[in-house]
Amino acid sequence: MKLLWTGILMTGLTAGLGINAHAAVTKAPFGKLPDGKAVEIYTLKSATVEARVMTFGARIVSVRTPDRAGHVADVVLGYENIEGYLADKKTYFGAIVGRYGNRIAGGKFSLDGKSYQVPTNDHGNSLHGGTSGFDQKLWTAKEVSNGVEMTLVSPDEDMGFPGTLTTHVTYTLVGNALHIDYVSTSDKDTVLNLTNHSYFNLNGDGASDILSHSITIDSEHFTPVDATLITTGNMDTVAGTPMDFRQPHTMGERINSDFAQLKLGGGYDHNWILNGPNGVIKRAAFVLDATTGRTLTVTTTEPGVQFYTGNFLDGSFKGKNGISYGKRTGFCLETQHYPDSPNHPGFPSTELKPGQIAKSTTIFTFGVQK
Ligand code: BGC
Repeated sequence: MKLLWTGILMTGLTAGLGINAHAAVTKAPFGKLPDGKAVEIYTLKSATVEARVMTFGARIVSVRTPDRAGHVADVVLGYENIEGYLADKKTYFGAIVGRYGNRIAGGKFSLDGKSYQVPTNDHGNSLHGGTSGFDQKLWTAKEVSNGVEMTLVSPDEDMGFPGTLTTHVTYTLVGNALHIDYVSTSDKDTVLNLTNHSYFNLNGDGASDILSHSITIDSEHFTPVDATLITTGNMDTVAGTPMDFRQPHTMGERINSDFAQLKLGGGYDHNWILNGPNGVIKRAAFVLDATTGRTLTVTTTEPGVQFYTGNFLDGSFKGKNGISYGKRTGFCLETQHYPDSPNHPGFPSTELKPGQIAKSTTIFTFGVQK
């Protein structure tokens, strides 16, 4: 049933494009890490979209899409070269984050009666897998049809997490849809929450803010946070609050309202609980930049999405074309399990046991509204 639904959805996404959905894949060097190891970049090119993905952090480096007039521009934030990515340990531009995307309270959790402490790198909590998470690792890559499969073997006790964890992340471009498929196995009980941390700006320049982009999120509830951005365990209704995106609103319309959760996040930086079951592909969000007509549709099997409006971007890093990315010049839609799930038994489980295979899929579809 799950496979059938995916098939129908994919056909729907690529049908009517009147184009060959096949993507050409090429590979090139993308500099070296400080230890001399070579980084590679893969270019996936279909008739409408060109996406580049590199082996350092399995990161999306660029996504070039047309606007309504046919002008092609890059819609993700990032750097020209590997040095830029190495210097920036704060933003996670384009990266696969893991083992545990988003936060774990106090970096503490227990599994099978044993307590674990992982690095606390964000206001006393663990963020995005610790000080040297998956975004900082060199993945191995193998070309596949329409894309590239990245693999990372994270050793037992890597950043304090139990179990040797093998992860494959496959990026494939089908027409105008960039698919990300995640598959992981572990030889011990562990916890896992993988996502992609791309920052989008559909305007295509990264210089202007994203506040006039409109967004719809297919969700009735969100998980509120405390002052350190840790989920309290509650699931609050969006109704009657600036968190309600069941109908489209621009990102900026209510971002500065006097609403406690927005004050704590410095803007939107929360997990929305998606409609539809966990493990089944469904729409999470739809974004439109009315100026250029570019759209982004996010579909996923994950139960949640972190909508983050780049509140902590502060211009301190110079990105592509020499642009300093300022506050709210990019937005993220990080499909995920809920933050701090290991400490909330009522949330969908992030536990992975030996013999199990953790699988998830997220699709970023780039379109144009005339
Ligand atoms: C988090 C933000 C954090 C950012 C780091 C997001 O996923 O929710 O709080 O600052 O990642 O770049």
